[in-house]
Amino acid sequence: MNDPVDPVRAWHRLAGICVLLDGFHALKHAVRFGAEVPVAVTADRRAALALADELAPDVRDTLDALLSEVPQGTYASLVPRPHPTAVAALAVRPSREANLRTLAHAPRGAPVVVLDQPRNLGNAGAVIRLAAGFGATGVVTTGTLDPWHPTVVRGGAGLHFATAVERLGVDELPRGPLFALDPEGEDIRGVKLPDDAVLAFGSERSGLSAALRARTDHLLALPMRPQVSSYNLATSVAMTLYHWSATGGAPAS
Ligand SMILES: C[S@@+](CC[C@H](N)C(=O)[O-])C[C@H]1O[C@@H](n2cnc3c(N)ncnc32)[C@H](O)[C@@H]1O
Repeated sequence: MNDPVDPVRAWHRLAGICVLLDGFHALKHAVRFGAEVPVAVTADRRAALALADELAPDVRDTLDALLSEVPQGTYASLVPRPHPTAVAALAVRPSREANLRTLAHAPRGAPVVVLDQPRNLGNAGAVIRLAAGFGATGVVTTGTLDPWHPTVVRGGAGLHFATAVERLGVDELPRGPLFALDPEGEDIRGVKLPDDAVLAFGSERSGLSAALRARTDHLLALPMRPQVSSYNLATSVAMTLYHWSATGGAPAS
């Protein structure tokens, strides 16, 4: 898919079907986790490679081969808003089939995170970044939010390629014991989460849906002082994944 002669032409050909990686860090992460990147541009190749020398020597040679320098105005015309690193790239979205295979793989070595009808694109991006950091098997959303929406991808800092990200119906969720998080549940501190757990979190507005509750095996609560109603969705996922790792779960190395 590479078009080394004319990266701008390649960009226009692929922009509608590929995922925008906005900035150096998103490109660095995507490359580290094996994304296919048919085109990458920068308005300042020397600065981009200096960043790679400093922050990502492991992928420096790959970035050197990928990055094409274009004039600042051309770069700015390709992205919705210029990034301070003046780097942008397009990556091929992993197929749904490949993600479903990863999610269904047994035995699973790390939990799947389910966001049940999330509303906030920033929360979804933050959760994908958390899942990548903890080596979770994947992040599944139910409902209408697209977990590959450009704003979610921006929030995920290129880490959509480090974990399987898909939208599914509640009836299509991966197998495994389903632990749903809700302030009314049993204290999570007394529970060891298995590696094949499916960890579900409710929507920012209304919590867990009836359909998700019906599929739940265990309802768990994060410790919270009386009079506080609930935590933010992404911070709830962070505490739960931390609990999994701190009680014997092994973030993938
Ligand atoms: C912002 S909260 C939802 C608040 C919503 N108004 C409700 O009725 O539940 C989003 C999600 O974070 C998780 N969450 C937040 N605080 C929690 C707590 N103390 N214990 C367990 N889960 C919590 C739950 O999964 C919840 O559905």
